[in-house]
Amino acid sequence: MQYADLLIENHGKVVVIRLNRPKAMNALNDNMMNELGDALYKFDADPSVNVIVLTGSEKVFAAGADIAAMANYTYADTYPGNYIGRNWEHILNVRKPVIGVVAGYALGGGCELAMMCDMLIAADSAKFGQPEIKVGVTPGAGGTQRLPRTIGKYKAMDMLLTCRMIDAAEAERNGLVSRVFPADKVMEEALAIANSIAGMSVSVAMAIKDSVNRAFETTLTEGVRYERRYFHAGFGTEAQKEGMSAFLEKRAPNFEGK
Ligand code: CAA
Repeated sequence: MQYADLLIENHGKVVVIRLNRPKAMNALNDNMMNELGDALYKFDADPSVNVIVLTGSEKVFAAGADIAAMANYTYADTYPGNYIGRNWEHILNVRKPVIGVVAGYALGGGCELAMMCDMLIAADSAKFGQPEIKVGVTPGAGGTQRLPRTIGKYKAMDMLLTCRMIDAAEAERNGLVSRVFPADKVMEEALAIANSIAGMSVSVAMAIKDSVNRAFETTLTEGVRYERRYFHAGFGTEAQKEGMSAFLEKRAPNFEGK
């Protein structure tokens, strides 16, 4: 599969999508976001893939929306043209786990795209920020919504109003990233995590992802009821039979095809 602004790597049941516009700090433009949507849908539908990793380079995850591309946009280009909505949020429709791996900058739309992933793994070189105010706009891909839900109102306001970047250690303290690793080890560690998830039942992983995301959209009682449906339905699956028999027989489970 060939893309102009993405690199694709296969690692068993894990596929790595790399944002790749090195000359523009991986600034997110229409072509890249169209390609990203295309790749995400393809891998989500591919039975040989269980987990998707989204990353950038060692230097930058993404430095935000492409300022050069949008600088002369008018209201007609943005609202009727559905800027952002037209191609940035395909990732939210992906049903398999998507692990974001951030090394270097994840700024503005780059931080927002990272926050659309299901888990975030950071290199110790990572820097997260929402500097949109400095270029005269509000965030436009969920920064004012996902950031406070993740790190709380006061930390979020600090980042959004002052443009202060936070490093990987602070991001981990604030709950913005799942785990931090040294930059030279981060991909190896992220792939080990992705492969361990890919070795589980893909349908259970999908149900867990769906249930966790439901937690942000509903009340606690409704959310627990939603989870319970998946739990009960699980008893009609081969994954449950295999997982529980393997435990009782003191052997490793084999979730292949389950
Ligand atoms: N859009 C377009 N081009 C960008 C870019 C962006 N967001 N970020 C960096 N670039 C380009 C630079 O223009 C530069 O290009 P040239 O070599 O052609 O001049 C190249 O990438 C390298 O960048 P710098 O020379 O600035 O590199 P640096 O190491 O000195 O700084 C940086 C790196 C801190 C990331 C800095 O580039 C920066 O602050 N970038 C902009 C960050 C930003 O404001 N992001 C928010 C964008 S708005 C948004 O995202 C809206 C939304 O919510 C959807």
